[in-house]
Amino acid sequence: MRLDKYLSYSLNITRKQAKNLIKDKQILINNQLVLDSNYHIDVDNDVVSCQGEVIEYEQFVYYMLNKPAGVISATIDNQYETVLDLIEPNDCKKGLFPVGRLDIDTEGLLILTNNGKLGHLLTNPKNHVEKKYYVEVQGELTNKDVEIFAKGMNLPDLKKGFIKTLPAELEILTTGDISTCYVTIFEGKYHQIKRMFEHVNKEVIYLKRIMIKGIYLDETLEPGEYRRLTAEELHRLKEGFNL
Ligand code: URA
Repeated sequence: MRLDKYLSYSLNITRKQAKNLIKDKQILINNQLVLDSNYHIDVDNDVVSCQGEVIEYEQFVYYMLNKPAGVISATIDNQYETVLDLIEPNDCKKGLFPVGRLDIDTEGLLILTNNGKLGHLLTNPKNHVEKKYYVEVQGELTNKDVEIFAKGMNLPDLKKGFIKTLPAELEILTTGDISTCYVTIFEGKYHQIKRMFEHVNKEVIYLKRIMIKGIYLDETLEPGEYRRLTAEELHRLKEGFNL
């Protein structure tokens, strides 16, 4: 990999800034001054340093964010705060994006990465990635609702008339005027959870995603906080995909 590209990725700076660092004699490779931006770095063996600090190469980053309500799952918006606004500038690597969407009022687990290939595999409907939500609804939940969710239901669709949902798991926690439950789905249609409850005449009043592909939201993260995925979580996220 070219030296300027290596620096740009690792330090989260532009190619021009990287070239300037090289020109200003700030960059050593294996303790030797290098002034050529085209220098080819052996990522596994060369040691690149700047003012005595080793610059580790990191192409991809993976974060779990506890998305708060009021923030949108986009990279840029001129009206609302976006999930990228919650990421520290140093962590905000080029190409970082939220994997899938949560509605503005939905909270909980959102994965962010700059690994486009993995992001697209996770959101491709053909891959049936498992997602679990904690839900509070207005109205009583019954075993009939559990059956309807398990069978799949027809939701209205502008283009096709209706679309059938895949079997989903509804686990009732409490039932009453306001009921609480977990719902697990294997797809991600537009406003899917809210529309599924609408189908059984219930209104979602609180929605929080707690799991994606076996990775649970770290409950020590306050809304708006994020952390890197652990090696084990990343392994799980990539499992079964041809990357
Ligand atoms: N289903 C919804 O209705 N909203 C979300 O944010 C996620 C799933």
